[in-house]
Amino acid sequence: MTILVTGGAGFIGSNFALEWVAHSDEPIVNLDKLTYAGNLQNLASIADNPQHVFVQGDFGDTALVNHLLATHQPRAILNFAAESHVDRSISGPGDFIHTNIVGTFNLLECTRAYWGGLKADTGGDAKAAFRFLHVSTDEVYGSLSKTDPAFTENNKYEPNSPYSASKAASDHLVRAYHHTYGLPVLTTNCSNNYGPFHFPEKLIPLMIVNAQAGKPLPVYGDGQQIRDWLYVKDHCSAIRRVLEAGTVGEVYNVGGWNEKPNLDIVHTVCALLDELKPRTDGKPYHEQITYVTDRPGHDRRYAIDARKIESQLGWKPAETFESGIRKTVQWYLDNPDWVANVQSGSYKDWVAQQYGAKA
Ligand SMILES: NC(=O)c1ccc[n+]([C@@H]2O[C@H](COP(=O)([O-])OP(=O)(O)OC[C@H]3O[C@@H](n4cnc5c(N)ncnc54)[C@H](O)[C@@H]3O)[C@@H](O)[C@H]2O)c1
Repeated sequence: MTILVTGGAGFIGSNFALEWVAHSDEPIVNLDKLTYAGNLQNLASIADNPQHVFVQGDFGDTALVNHLLATHQPRAILNFAAESHVDRSISGPGDFIHTNIVGTFNLLECTRAYWGGLKADTGGDAKAAFRFLHVSTDEVYGSLSKTDPAFTENNKYEPNSPYSASKAASDHLVRAYHHTYGLPVLTTNCSNNYGPFHFPEKLIPLMIVNAQAGKPLPVYGDGQQIRDWLYVKDHCSAIRRVLEAGTVGEVYNVGGWNEKPNLDIVHTVCALLDELKPRTDGKPYHEQITYVTDRPGHDRRYAIDARKIESQLGWKPAETFESGIRKTVQWYLDNPDWVANVQSGSYKDWVAQQYGAKA
């Protein structure tokens, strides 16, 4: 028995690979292209572990994916690979279409052929037990007003950014492969994650890293955009649970019931840094907050109704927001080498272009 993951050197995928090895003896094959967001340093603790096989490559490469499926015969494929940053999708949507839609399409096509051959090769049980788990986002549902109920699995899709539109398209392809070809798929739509190995272009790590560097803390617009936050290891446990017990063809929303305005998040990070690593001049970190022009088409509120995965699969997050954010800030303080490594190269250029040379 083996599982194959794509995008397992990124933020969530690498946390998933580490958690998988910690919770299971089953081998995990990890296919990642190592874009700017992929980082082998995330996987350093399992680099020599024979249970984890890393392959650098593109999930859009048909010959490579076919080769990996034939060689490793996975009983499940988990699709984490994506272009994932909304701001980048606004400045350059092409990569998002290519990776998130065309790449997922290629993975589905290879999987369909492989799964179709399972019966002849390994018997009916392997075919029935096979799963394709697609990792997606709550952003496909669009934006809520303050009083709207949280997203359930029955909400209609109303993606507003090129990122969420590309993820929505990939979700639809996954759904279509189930309805058309019978491929045994599962889809998870999760809220905003935070935790270790989060690339510092995203809100929480950007604030931690900039605060310590004495740089401005750029907050979009009025900072009152609401997001629903989940500690990344809780997302990983939800994915393991859906893989284990989810009903084929079903969608599961994953969230931690933690709706917070972005500005509150920034203040929480500042307060934790004031406590854990105070500024040398004794001033509070929140003095570094600067308001910048809002993101075009910025969604106002996301909120996940997680009752389906809780009641049907018995999943619950282990961390509260307070415990998870404290662990996260501490992790960044404890891992300056990781931060220095990911800040080199293209990331630095991109942030300077987005937020000005001082950010
Ligand atoms: N980060 C979040 O808050 C969040 C929330 C819900 C869902 N998601 C979804 O979870 C998944 C993982 O998100 P993340 O935050 O870890 O993203 P990430 O950007 O940190 O990592 C993406 C990984 O995919 C790899 N990749 C990109 N193109 C590839 C290709 N063509 N072939 C193989 N690998 C490729 C990258 O190298 C990187 O390692 C994505 O599908 C994303 O849409 C993310």
